[in-house]
Amino acid sequence: MRYQFLGKSNLAVSSIGLGCVTFGREIDEAAAYTIMDRALEAGITLFDTAEVYGGNPGRSEEIIGRWLAGRRTRPQIVLATKVRPPLGRERIIASAEASLRRLQVEVIDLFQMHAWDNQTPLDETLEALELLAQQGKVRHVGFSNCAAWQLCKALWYQERAGWGRLESVQPPYNLVVRDIERELLPLCADQQVSVLAYSPLGSGFLTGKYRPGGEILKGTRMEIVPGTIPSYFHDAGFRIVDGLRRKAEQIGAPIPALALAWVMAEPRVTSVLIGARSAAQIDQALQADALGISAELRAELSAL
Ligand SMILES: NC(=O)c1ccc[n+]([C@@H]2O[C@H](COP(=O)([O-])OP(=O)(O)OC[C@H]3O[C@@H](n4cnc5c(N)ncnc54)[C@H](OP(=O)(O)O)[C@@H]3O)[C@@H](O)[C@H]2O)c1
Repeated sequence: MRYQFLGKSNLAVSSIGLGCVTFGREIDEAAAYTIMDRALEAGITLFDTAEVYGGNPGRSEEIIGRWLAGRRTRPQIVLATKVRPPLGRERIIASAEASLRRLQVEVIDLFQMHAWDNQTPLDETLEALELLAQQGKVRHVGFSNCAAWQLCKALWYQERAGWGRLESVQPPYNLVVRDIERELLPLCADQQVSVLAYSPLGSGFLTGKYRPGGEILKGTRMEIVPGTIPSYFHDAGFRIVDGLRRKAEQIGAPIPALALAWVMAEPRVTSVLIGARSAAQIDQALQADALGISAELRAELSAL
């Protein structure tokens, strides 16, 4: 595992992050404990959750909180969570305090806006985040699902006000969804903002388990969150999976490992947030990390 500082901060995060969206939804508490144990053992220290994760909102955070509280010594986990819009002052503060209670910690390492909020003035949102940092309830702040101009505007407001800055963004990034390459990745590199890439396997699509016109397996992510389907189930998506399958056979690597390795090989990505419903899927991510891919192979896959 490699570690890098988050943005310009002195907080180190692991190059693979554990996404905890499945906890309390696809998988129960015992399975989540097995996954967290396995991740920690492998050196994965960044755990990403959100107030809304877990089937019932808050369950994912509660499970992580109980797992942490039940350990004899507190592991050095970097806890990242998120607040959903609307992002008004009262709501942001109440959300952070509720997350602290569920996670059973004194401070959240990374508190992220889950998405842009059109309704609340940006300076009100950023001022509330700054207040939480000054009160010692959050260490750093980040922004998920933002456009480059939104991040740029927020950084500018924060600098003008003399507040702490957004140290990270959390966008989707995989072989099918690559929008961030145009504006967000160059901006983050220029401003030294970390990129925590989510859905590196396209929520399971890039494992090769779906076929055009085929059935969506019961209990899988695509069945549980059907809103994800239109982003992947199209001609270009299936063409990419075909090419990935051919390449994986040629080099003798599993398809998911190759898809993950492609995301991991992007130097402007600080951490790749993997989703898993079993410890075996964590092992597959580690295998991808070990696989590494050359610039030539990455370019070949990009061309798909
Ligand atoms: N900020 C946001 O808006 C946002 C949105 C989404 C995710 N995230 C974060 O990013 C994390 C990762 O996202 P993600 O879960 O979408 O990541 P992902 O790695 O693209 O998808 C994970 C899913 O793929 C399937 N899978 C994984 N490994 C597999 C394998 N070896 N073989 C077959 N299927 C496999 C599993 O689902 P099935 O077995 O059910 O198919 C697994 O739950 C989340 O946990 C969350 O922390 C953030």
